[in-house]
Amino acid sequence: MDKVIEISETIKFSIGGSILEISYIIASVLFIFGLKMLSHPETARRGNIWAAVGMGIAVVATILFHKMAGEPIGNIGYIIGAIVLGTVIGWIIAVKVQMTAMPQLVSFFNGMGGASAALIALMEFPHVEQELIAQYGMANGNVLVILLGLMIGSVSFAGSMVAFGKLDGRIGDIKSTALRVINIILLVLLIGFIVYIMSSGATDPRELMPALYVMLAVALIYGVLFVMPIGGADMPVVISLLNSFTGIAAAMGGFLYNNQAMLTGGILVGSAGTILTILMCHAMNRSLFNVIVGAFGKAAAGAGDERGAIREVSLSDAAVLLNYSQRVVIIPGYGLAVAQAQHLAHELDKMLTESGVDVKYAIHPVAGRMPGHMNVLLAEADVPYDKLVEMEDINPDMPNTDVAVVIGANDVVNPAAEEDPSSPIYGMPIVKAHEAKNIIVMKRGMGKGYAAIENNLFYADKTRMLFGNAKESLQKLIEEIKTL
Ligand code: TAP
Repeated sequence: MDKVIEISETIKFSIGGSILEISYIIASVLFIFGLKMLSHPETARRGNIWAAVGMGIAVVATILFHKMAGEPIGNIGYIIGAIVLGTVIGWIIAVKVQMTAMPQLVSFFNGMGGASAALIALMEFPHVEQELIAQYGMANGNVLVILLGLMIGSVSFAGSMVAFGKLDGRIGDIKSTALRVINIILLVLLIGFIVYIMSSGATDPRELMPALYVMLAVALIYGVLFVMPIGGADMPVVISLLNSFTGIAAAMGGFLYNNQAMLTGGILVGSAGTILTILMCHAMNRSLFNVIVGAFGKAAAGAGDERGAIREVSLSDAAVLLNYSQRVVIIPGYGLAVAQAQHLAHELDKMLTESGVDVKYAIHPVAGRMPGHMNVLLAEADVPYDKLVEMEDINPDMPNTDVAVVIGANDVVNPAAEEDPSSPIYGMPIVKAHEAKNIIVMKRGMGKGYAAIENNLFYADKTRMLFGNAKESLQKLIEEIKTL
C-alpha cells in the first residue's frame, strides 16, 4: 500500500513539474511574440497584452503547480494580497497617467523591477545550499548570481527613482568631475565586495550578512550618483539602460531558481534595453560614455561663416505653395511636442490630401526627447501609420518633394551633420529636408535645438521661415488654406 502511495506521489510530482515547465515555456513564447509585436505601432497594443498574458500564466502556474511538483510555496495569503494590491495600484496609475508623463511612469515601474530582483537576492543569500558551499565554498555559481542580482537590481532601483524624480521635475542635474571620480570608486568597491564575499572562506552565508548590507548600501548610493549628473534630455537613453539592468537582474533570479520564464523574460528585457540604448546613441552619433558623462560638445567654430539671410514666408504664400504642391513631407520635431500641435498637423495633412497633395511624415529615430516620441504623438492624433515614413526610407524621395514642412525640428534636419566635419553632430543621420525643392520651417524664433548649435538650413535660399508657436502657426495656415 505504501509503495502504491509512494508511486502515485512520484507521478503527481512529475506531472506537477511538467505542467509547471510547460507553463513557463508557453509564457516565454508569449513574451517573445509580444516583444516582436511591440516593434510596430499597429501591433504594439496586442503585443503588450500577449506578454501580460504570458506573465499571468507564469504567476498562476507557479502558485498552483509548485505544490503539486513537490515544492510547496508558503505565505500564499500574502502573495495573493500583494498581487491584488499591486494590480490595483498599477491599474490606477496606468489609467490616470498623462501621455506626457509616460517616461516617468516607465522609469518608476522599472525601478520596482530592480527592487524586486535585489530583494530576491537579499532573501536568498542566507539560504544558499549547504551542499554547494561544502563543495565549492562561497565561490559558487549561486552566490555569484545572487551578488550580481543584488548589485544590478539595487543600482537599477535607485537610478530609476532618481530618473523618475528628474523627469518629473523634482530633481535637478548635478554635474561635477568629483562625482565622476566618486562613481568610479563606488563601482570598484562593488566589484571588491563581490570578490571579498566569494573568497571569504565562510561556511555559513549568514556570517556575511553585514558585508551584504554594506554592499547593498553602496549599490544604492552608486545608483543615485550614476544618474545624478545626466542631463534631462539624455534621460531616455539612461532609462533604457536602467531597463536593461533590471532585465539582467531578473535573469539572475531565473538562473537562481532555474525558472525558464523568469530567465527568458529577464534576457528579453535585458537585451531589448541594451539594443535600444545602442540604437539611440547611434542615432545621435554619440557614445554611451558621452551620454553618461556629458552633453554634446561645443558648437563648431566658424560653423556660421557662410550663412545667408533669413527669409520669412507670409501665411498666404505658404498656403498657396502647399495647396498646389504634388508632394509634401512634414518633418515633426521636439517643438511639435512642446506646442502639442500634432492634431493640427494632422488637420493640415487631411486638408492637403483632400486637395490631391501626397502628404507623408518623416520620422527621425531621435526626434523629440524619448524613443518613438513622434510616433506616439502622431498616433494620438490618429495619423494613419502608413503615412509615417522612417528617415532612411523617405530620404531618397526628398529631392522629388515639393515642400518639406519642418515643424519644431532642428537638430534632426541640420545639414551640418553631413557637411561639417567639425560639427558636434557630424555623422548623425538626418532627414534630408535640405534636398527638398522648398522648405518651410515653423519655429518660434532662432532658438537652437538640443545640441545647441546653429542650423544652416534656416539660412538656405530654398528655406522660408514661418515664425511663431507651431500650434498657432498651423491654425493660421489652415484658416488661410480654407480661403483658397
Ligand atoms: P531640437 O533639435 O531639440 O529642436 C527643437 C526646436 O523646436 C527648437 O529649435 C525650438 O526653436 C523649436 N520649438 C520649441 N518649442 C516650440 C514651439 N512651441 N513651437 C514651435 N517650435 C518650437 O528637436 P529635434 O529636431 O526633434 O531633435 C531632437 C534632439 O534631441 C536631437 O539632438 C536628439 O539627439 C536629442 N535627443 C533625443 C532623444 C530621443 S530618444 N528622442 C533623447 C535625448 C536627446 P525655437 O526656440 O526657435 O522655437
